[in-house]
Parts: sequence; C-alpha cells; structure tokens
Amino acid sequence: MIRAFLYTAIIFLLNFNNLFAQKFEALAQTPPMGFNTWNTFQTNINEQMLKNMVDTFISSGMKDAGYRYFILDDGWMAMQRDSSGNLVPDPQKFPGGMKKFVDYVHAKGLKFGIYNCAGTLTCGGYPGTRGYEYQDARFYAALGVDYLKYDWCNTVGLDAKEAYTTMSKAIKVAGRPMVFSLCEWGNHKPWEWATNIGHLWRTTGDIAAGFDGVVDKGTWKAMSVMGIADKQAEMRQYSGPGHWNDPDMLEVGNGMTYNEDKAHFSLWCMLAAPLMAGNDLRKMSDQTKSILTNGDAIAIDQDVLGVAGFKYAALDGLEIWIKPLANNELAVCFLNRSAKQKTITFNWKDHPIKDGLSSIIIDFNTSAYKIYDLWLKKTLGNTNRALKSDLGVHDVMMIKLTKL
Ligand code: GLA
Repeated sequence: MIRAFLYTAIIFLLNFNNLFAQKFEALAQTPPMGFNTWNTFQTNINEQMLKNMVDTFISSGMKDAGYRYFILDDGWMAMQRDSSGNLVPDPQKFPGGMKKFVDYVHAKGLKFGIYNCAGTLTCGGYPGTRGYEYQDARFYAALGVDYLKYDWCNTVGLDAKEAYTTMSKAIKVAGRPMVFSLCEWGNHKPWEWATNIGHLWRTTGDIAAGFDGVVDKGTWKAMSVMGIADKQAEMRQYSGPGHWNDPDMLEVGNGMTYNEDKAHFSLWCMLAAPLMAGNDLRKMSDQTKSILTNGDAIAIDQDVLGVAGFKYAALDGLEIWIKPLANNELAVCFLNRSAKQKTITFNWKDHPIKDGLSSIIIDFNTSAYKIYDLWLKKTLGNTNRALKSDLGVHDVMMIKLTKL
C-alpha cells in the first residue's frame, strides 16, 4: 500500500516536474535560420508587404537553402491591450487579422515567429509582456507561433534570469513548442544561465550595416560586424545544439560592400550563429542572394557538431578563424580586416591546430587535408603545399578541409 502510494507520488512528481521543466527540447538542434523584419523595416510592416516577402522567401530560394522562420519583430501590435488584457495585432497593419497571416506563412511550409518584450513596453513603445506572461504565451500558442523573440526594454526592477524563466515556463504551460530567443543584449551574461531557459540568446547590442568599429546612428551607437565578432571568444564554450550564442541578425544586402557582406556571412557561419536575414528579400541583388544561399557556407553554420569557431591568429590586419566540424573536417576562414589588399601565405606544416573544446589536434606534418574553397566553389589542392592567395580589402577566403 505504502509502496503503491510512493510509486504514484513519484510518477506524479515526475510529470509535474516535466510540466514545469523549462523550454521545449529538441528545437534548434542547429542554429535557427530565417528572416526577421527589424533590420530593414523596423516597425513599418503590414500584411500585404509581408505576404509579398513570404512569397519571395520561397521564390528566391531562401527556403530551399534552409531558411525556415519568418519573424515579425517590434511593431505588429496596437498600442493598447483589449479590455480582457489580450494583445491586439494592429488592425491597420493586419486588416485580415494575425491568425490569417500566420496561416499564410504555415501554408508555405514555413514557421512563424513573433516579438515581445519582458518589460512594461517593447523597445518601440508597444505593450510589453510584464505581468501578462501566461496570457501572452496562450495568445501566441493559439495563433500558431513557432518562435518568440523576447526583448529587454523597460525592465527596471526585473531580474533577467527570473523574467526569462517566467516566460519560458509560460510557453511550456501554453503547450505549443516555440523556439525561445532571449534578447537582453548580453547584459547579464545569459550564456551562463539560459541553457535550460531558451534556445538562443543575444550576446551583444544591436548590429548595424557597418564592417568595423562603432556605427554612429545619430541618437545611438550600434555595433559593427567586427565589433560583435571580437566579443564572441569569451562565450564560445556556452554555445551548442539547442542553445546558441546569437551575435544578432544579418545585415547582408543592407549597404556594406560585397566583400564585407561575404565576410559578415562567413564569420556568422564560423560562429555557428543563427542566420536571420534582415534585408528586403524582394529587392535583393543576385550577389546578395548568392551570399545568403551559399549552401556550402550554410553547411558550415549548420554542422551537426555545433561547435562555435574561434580566432586562431591575427596579425597585421589578417585574421584566421577556425571551426571544428563533424567527421573530423575543419572550416578555416582567412579574413583581410585591413584597408589594404593583402597576400596570405600559410604553410600548414608550421601551424598545428589544437582546440580543447572540441578536442581536435591536427598536425599537418603527419596528416594531409583536401582544401575546398566555399566561395570559389572549387578544390584548391591540399595542405601539403603552403596556401597562397590575394585577399582584397575586407574580403575572406573560406575553406573546408577534409582528410585525405
Ligand atoms: C531591440 C532589439 C532589436 C529589435 C528592437 C525592436 O533594440 O535588440 O533587435 O528587436 O529592439 O524595437
């Protein structure tokens, strides 16, 4: 009798615990890929424009390249909740209602993401979720939301870990699996505490389409591609399948040079970063498209080992980044960060590669690797010979090494 009681109690506790276990597992086993409205449109979004964007998402080959999430950032809501406290999609921007738009996205075989904020108001001044966590999570679940980006404006007095834990639980209780994207800009080092709470966390402040240094946006200072990349080393070990460091959305196609866009995309792939296109897909040039849909580069990002790359060396404006891959392969990215044309000469045999995190050790004196150039899309011999190549200003050479 007592044994039966104990048994039932244990089963109950296990289930109870499961109900409140944080985050839905088995989502985002590789870094999430998609499109987010913010970088190009800010809050200027509307149903018709977004439907065109969804159509282009398919026709441009983004879906075929692996992008899945179509994400509305800030600005989708009306300024007030309704009398029951429910969020209201802006009726002017979404005359057909949000559910219809979500269904449109799903009918195209894509997943739908939405945005809100842990504070009283979003960064754009729309109703925030503070105090409405469970109600909002139910609202998203009913809409069919697959991904929630959760920001950190207007949060005075809140503890970040507690606030994100509450929302994570609310999503779990609402019952619809959603990727949970923490966006508190790395202020409270979420990589140290959010592994069981969310699937990705912003590591840094907002990106802008600038290559290096700080990007002056008039009223505020945004981060550049290299400014963000420089900060990734310290949190590298916290990223992995199901829980990714997020250096912010892509600025490919938003005003940098072709080389800079290519370098930006390559570095994000080397970092195993979430790949969220942030350009106007309807207007992208063939060059932009060729970057965003480079399947070889995407395969580096999506590699199942899920180990973020690291800066192996930096000298005189030239940087070498390395990312260990599954099956003992390796991605190497040579980057010319300087404002002058450079020539790289890299004698593999002088540079053993060691990485404690992935336990790889390579000595090119004892093993040779085939070199495949991911942008030129061709094999360039092997590591028995020194690599020599010209690199234009802010250009990259990104290669994959496969053991011979
Ligand atoms: C913050 C986030 C951005 C974007 C805006 C929306 O700045 O970091 O990515 O979501 O808010 O207002």
